[in-house]
Amino acid sequence: TVYPDQQTASKQVARKIAGLIKSKQDSALPAVLGLATGVTPIKVYQELVRLHQEENLSFKNVITFNLDEYYPMKPDAAQSYVTFMKENLFNHIDIDPANIHIPDGTLNKDEVAAFCLNYEKQIEQLGGLDLQILGIGRTGHIGFNEPGSAPNSGTRVVTLDDLTRSDASRDFGGKEKVPAKAITMGIGTIFKAREIILMAWSQKKAPIIKKAVEGEISGEVPATYLQLSGQVEFVLDEGAASEL
Ligand code: GLP
Repeated sequence: TVYPDQQTASKQVARKIAGLIKSKQDSALPAVLGLATGVTPIKVYQELVRLHQEENLSFKNVITFNLDEYYPMKPDAAQSYVTFMKENLFNHIDIDPANIHIPDGTLNKDEVAAFCLNYEKQIEQLGGLDLQILGIGRTGHIGFNEPGSAPNSGTRVVTLDDLTRSDASRDFGGKEKVPAKAITMGIGTIFKAREIILMAWSQKKAPIIKKAVEGEISGEVPATYLQLSGQVEFVLDEGAASEL
Protein backbone atom coordinates (compact mmCIF):
# COMPACT_ATOMS: atom_id res chain seq x y z
CA THR A 1 0.00 0.00 0.00
CA VAL A 2 1.45 3.34 -1.01
CA TYR A 3 0.53 6.45 1.00
CA PRO A 4 1.35 10.02 0.03
CA ASP A 5 3.52 10.47 3.12
CA GLN A 6 4.96 8.78 6.17
CA GLN A 7 2.62 10.52 8.60
CA THR A 8 -0.55 9.22 6.93
CA ALA A 9 0.90 5.73 6.54
CA SER A 10 2.05 5.58 10.18
CA LYS A 11 -1.41 6.62 11.41
CA GLN A 12 -2.99 3.80 9.40
CA VAL A 13 -0.58 1.24 10.85
CA ALA A 14 -1.21 2.57 14.39
CA ARG A 15 -4.95 2.37 13.81
CA LYS A 16 -4.61 -1.24 12.70
CA ILE A 17 -2.60 -2.10 15.83
CA ALA A 18 -5.19 -0.32 18.02
CA GLY A 19 -7.97 -2.29 16.29
CA LEU A 20 -6.18 -5.56 17.01
CA ILE A 21 -5.65 -4.64 20.68
CA LYS A 22 -9.32 -3.68 21.10
CA SER A 23 -10.66 -6.78 19.37
CA LYS A 24 -8.58 -8.94 21.72
CA GLN A 25 -9.75 -6.92 24.75
CA ASP A 26 -13.34 -7.65 23.77
CA SER A 27 -12.63 -11.37 24.01
CA ALA A 28 -10.35 -10.99 27.10
CA LEU A 29 -7.28 -12.24 25.21
CA PRO A 30 -3.77 -10.77 25.06
CA ALA A 31 -2.59 -9.11 21.86
CA VAL A 32 0.90 -10.44 21.09
CA LEU A 33 2.88 -7.87 19.13
CA GLY A 34 6.28 -8.11 17.47
CA LEU A 35 7.92 -4.69 17.59
CA ALA A 36 10.75 -3.05 15.68
CA THR A 37 13.23 -0.26 16.34
CA GLY A 38 14.94 2.25 14.03
CA VAL A 39 13.64 5.55 12.72
CA THR A 40 10.91 3.89 10.62
CA PRO A 41 8.31 2.96 13.30
CA ILE A 42 8.73 6.10 15.45
CA LYS A 43 5.63 7.85 14.12
CA VAL A 44 3.56 4.69 14.60
CA TYR A 45 4.62 4.65 18.26
CA GLN A 46 3.84 8.40 18.57
CA GLU A 47 0.34 7.77 17.26
CA LEU A 48 -0.17 4.81 19.65
CA VAL A 49 0.90 7.06 22.55
CA ARG A 50 -1.58 9.69 21.37
CA LEU A 51 -4.36 7.08 21.17
CA HIS A 52 -3.50 6.02 24.73
CA GLN A 53 -3.43 9.56 26.10
CA GLU A 54 -6.35 11.05 24.20
CA GLU A 55 -8.59 8.13 23.29
CA ASN A 56 -8.13 5.77 26.24
CA LEU A 57 -6.44 2.98 24.29
CA SER A 58 -5.16 0.61 26.99
CA PHE A 59 -2.13 -1.67 26.60
CA LYS A 60 -2.91 -3.72 29.70
CA ASN A 61 -3.65 -6.79 27.56
CA VAL A 62 -0.63 -6.30 25.26
CA ILE A 63 2.44 -8.56 25.29
CA THR A 64 5.39 -7.45 23.19
CA PHE A 65 8.46 -9.12 21.72
CA ASN A 66 11.10 -6.93 20.13
CA LEU A 67 12.87 -8.17 17.05
CA ASP A 68 16.44 -7.58 18.07
CA GLU A 69 19.12 -5.99 20.24
CA TYR A 70 22.81 -5.29 19.78
CA TYR A 71 25.15 -7.81 21.41
CA PRO A 72 26.74 -7.04 23.72
CA MET A 73 24.61 -4.16 24.94
CA LYS A 74 23.70 -2.79 28.37
CA PRO A 75 19.97 -2.08 28.64
CA ASP A 76 20.54 1.41 30.06
CA ALA A 77 22.98 2.46 27.30
CA ALA A 78 21.73 5.33 25.12
CA GLN A 79 21.94 3.15 21.98
CA SER A 80 20.19 0.08 23.37
CA TYR A 81 16.87 -0.96 21.92
CA VAL A 82 15.58 -1.14 25.51
CA THR A 83 16.23 2.61 25.84
CA PHE A 84 14.72 3.24 22.41
CA MET A 85 11.53 1.37 23.23
CA LYS A 86 11.16 3.06 26.63
CA GLU A 87 11.65 6.53 25.20
CA ASN A 88 9.45 6.04 22.16
CA LEU A 89 6.66 3.89 23.57
CA PHE A 90 6.79 2.01 26.86
CA ASN A 91 7.34 5.01 29.18
CA HIS A 92 4.20 6.64 27.83
CA ILE A 93 1.65 3.80 27.92
CA ASP A 94 0.08 1.52 30.55
CA ILE A 95 1.79 -1.74 29.49
CA ASP A 96 2.77 -4.12 32.32
CA PRO A 97 6.63 -4.24 32.35
CA ALA A 98 6.38 -8.03 32.83
CA ASN A 99 4.77 -8.22 29.37
CA ILE A 100 7.75 -6.59 27.60
CA HIS A 101 10.36 -8.85 25.98
CA ILE A 102 13.55 -7.57 24.36
CA PRO A 103 16.59 -9.76 23.59
CA ASP A 104 19.07 -9.48 26.47
CA GLY A 105 22.36 -8.00 25.32
CA THR A 106 24.07 -8.62 28.68
CA LEU A 107 24.22 -12.43 28.55
CA ASN A 108 27.52 -14.24 28.36
CA LYS A 109 28.36 -16.70 25.57
CA ASP A 110 27.20 -19.72 27.57
CA GLU A 111 23.79 -18.25 28.36
CA VAL A 112 22.77 -16.77 25.06
CA ALA A 113 21.78 -19.94 23.14
CA ALA A 114 19.36 -21.00 25.89
CA PHE A 115 17.97 -17.46 26.02
CA CYS A 116 17.27 -17.53 22.27
CA LEU A 117 15.49 -20.89 22.46
CA ASN A 118 13.41 -19.63 25.35
CA TYR A 119 12.48 -16.47 23.41
CA GLU A 120 11.02 -18.70 20.70
CA LYS A 121 9.27 -20.86 23.28
CA GLN A 122 7.68 -17.87 25.03
CA ILE A 123 6.21 -16.65 21.74
CA GLU A 124 4.93 -20.13 20.90
CA GLN A 125 3.35 -20.63 24.32
CA LEU A 126 1.29 -17.48 23.78
CA GLY A 127 0.00 -18.90 20.50
CA GLY A 128 2.41 -16.93 18.28
CA LEU A 129 2.65 -13.28 17.26
CA ASP A 130 -0.60 -11.69 16.12
CA LEU A 131 1.27 -8.99 14.24
CA GLN A 132 4.93 -8.31 13.49
CA ILE A 133 5.99 -4.87 12.33
CA LEU A 134 9.23 -4.47 10.42
CA GLY A 135 11.53 -1.86 8.97
CA ILE A 136 14.19 -2.74 6.41
CA GLY A 137 17.92 -2.14 6.43
CA ARG A 138 19.84 -1.15 3.32
CA THR A 139 21.33 -4.67 3.15
CA GLY A 140 17.78 -6.01 2.88
CA HIS A 141 17.82 -7.18 6.48
CA ILE A 142 14.66 -7.60 8.52
CA GLY A 143 15.31 -7.58 12.24
CA PHE A 144 19.06 -8.13 12.03
CA ASN A 145 18.77 -11.04 9.57
CA GLU A 146 21.64 -10.06 7.32
CA PRO A 147 22.40 -11.48 3.86
CA GLY A 148 23.02 -15.22 4.15
CA SER A 149 20.24 -15.75 6.72
CA ALA A 150 18.26 -18.95 6.23
CA PRO A 151 14.50 -18.76 5.61
CA ASN A 152 13.82 -21.09 8.55
CA SER A 153 16.23 -19.36 10.96
CA GLY A 154 15.21 -18.82 14.58
CA THR A 155 16.28 -16.35 17.27
CA ARG A 156 20.08 -16.34 17.41
CA VAL A 157 23.29 -14.33 17.59
CA VAL A 158 24.34 -12.87 14.22
CA THR A 159 27.28 -10.87 12.91
CA LEU A 160 26.31 -7.46 11.59
CA ASP A 161 27.02 -6.52 8.00
CA ASP A 162 29.55 -3.77 7.34
CA LEU A 163 26.90 -1.52 5.75
CA THR A 164 24.59 -1.99 8.77
CA ARG A 165 27.40 -0.93 11.11
CA SER A 166 28.11 2.14 8.94
CA ASP A 167 24.43 3.08 9.05
CA ALA A 168 24.46 2.74 12.86
CA SER A 169 27.73 4.65 13.30
CA ARG A 170 26.03 8.02 13.89
CA ASP A 171 24.20 6.63 16.95
CA PHE A 172 27.42 5.25 18.38
CA GLY A 173 29.80 8.08 17.47
CA GLY A 174 31.88 5.99 15.07
CA LYS A 175 31.57 2.70 13.22
CA GLU A 176 34.24 1.01 15.34
CA LYS A 177 32.03 1.58 18.40
CA VAL A 178 29.03 -0.27 16.86
CA PRO A 179 28.83 -3.79 18.32
CA ALA A 180 29.91 -6.48 15.85
CA LYS A 181 26.99 -8.71 16.73
CA ALA A 182 23.31 -8.70 17.58
CA ILE A 183 20.61 -11.04 18.85
CA THR A 184 17.72 -11.21 16.40
CA MET A 185 14.52 -13.15 15.85
CA GLY A 186 14.99 -15.29 12.77
CA ILE A 187 13.28 -15.14 9.39
CA GLY A 188 11.41 -18.29 10.50
CA THR A 189 10.28 -16.56 13.71
CA ILE A 190 8.99 -13.56 11.77
CA PHE A 191 7.22 -15.80 9.24
CA LYS A 192 5.18 -17.48 11.95
CA ALA A 193 3.43 -14.19 12.77
CA ARG A 194 -0.20 -14.19 11.65
CA GLU A 195 0.29 -10.81 10.02
CA ILE A 196 3.43 -8.92 8.97
CA ILE A 197 3.69 -5.22 8.08
CA LEU A 198 6.95 -3.96 6.59
CA MET A 199 7.23 -0.18 6.51
CA ALA A 200 9.68 1.96 4.55
CA TRP A 201 9.89 5.70 4.03
CA SER A 202 11.77 7.97 1.63
CA GLN A 203 13.68 7.59 -1.57
CA LYS A 204 16.70 6.35 0.38
CA LYS A 205 14.87 3.02 0.81
CA ALA A 206 13.58 2.85 -2.81
CA PRO A 207 16.38 0.64 -4.24
CA ILE A 208 16.12 -1.96 -1.45
CA ILE A 209 12.31 -1.91 -1.60
CA LYS A 210 12.49 -2.61 -5.34
CA LYS A 211 14.76 -5.60 -4.66
CA ALA A 212 12.61 -6.83 -1.76
CA VAL A 213 9.33 -6.64 -3.67
CA GLU A 214 10.37 -7.41 -7.26
CA GLY A 215 13.79 -9.06 -6.98
CA GLU A 216 14.65 -12.72 -7.15
CA ILE A 217 13.96 -14.52 -3.85
CA SER A 218 17.33 -15.16 -2.27
CA GLY A 219 19.20 -15.13 1.02
CA GLU A 220 21.33 -12.35 -0.48
CA VAL A 221 18.40 -10.00 0.22
CA PRO A 222 16.62 -11.58 3.21
CA ALA A 223 13.52 -9.36 2.83
CA THR A 224 12.79 -11.11 -0.52
CA TYR A 225 11.67 -14.12 1.52
CA LEU A 226 8.61 -12.06 2.42
CA GLN A 227 7.42 -12.60 -1.17
CA LEU A 228 6.69 -16.18 -0.08
CA SER A 229 4.36 -15.06 2.70
CA GLY A 230 0.62 -14.74 2.14
CA GLN A 231 0.19 -12.45 5.14
CA VAL A 232 2.59 -9.59 4.52
CA GLU A 233 1.79 -5.99 3.64
CA PHE A 234 4.41 -3.51 2.48
CA VAL A 235 3.37 -0.04 3.68
CA LEU A 236 5.32 2.61 1.81
CA ASP A 237 5.38 6.32 1.20
CA GLU A 238 5.75 7.60 -2.35
CA GLY A 239 9.52 7.99 -2.02
CA ALA A 240 10.11 4.38 -0.95
CA ALA A 241 7.76 3.14 -3.70
CA SER A 242 9.31 5.32 -6.41
CA GLU A 243 11.33 2.56 -8.11
CA LEU A 244 8.54 -0.03 -8.22
C1 GLP B 1 18.15 -1.60 12.29
C2 GLP B 1 17.11 -2.51 12.95
C3 GLP B 1 16.08 -2.97 11.94
C4 GLP B 1 15.58 -1.77 11.18
C5 GLP B 1 16.70 -1.15 10.39
C6 GLP B 1 16.29 0.07 9.58
O1 GLP B 1 19.17 -2.31 11.72
N1 GLP B 1 17.67 -3.65 13.59
O2 GLP B 1 15.03 -3.66 12.62
O3 GLP B 1 14.53 -2.14 10.34
O4 GLP B 1 17.71 -0.75 11.30
O5 GLP B 1 16.42 1.21 10.36
P1 GLP B 1 15.68 2.58 10.09
O6 GLP B 1 14.24 2.33 10.38
O7 GLP B 1 16.31 3.52 11.07
O8 GLP B 1 15.94 2.93 8.67
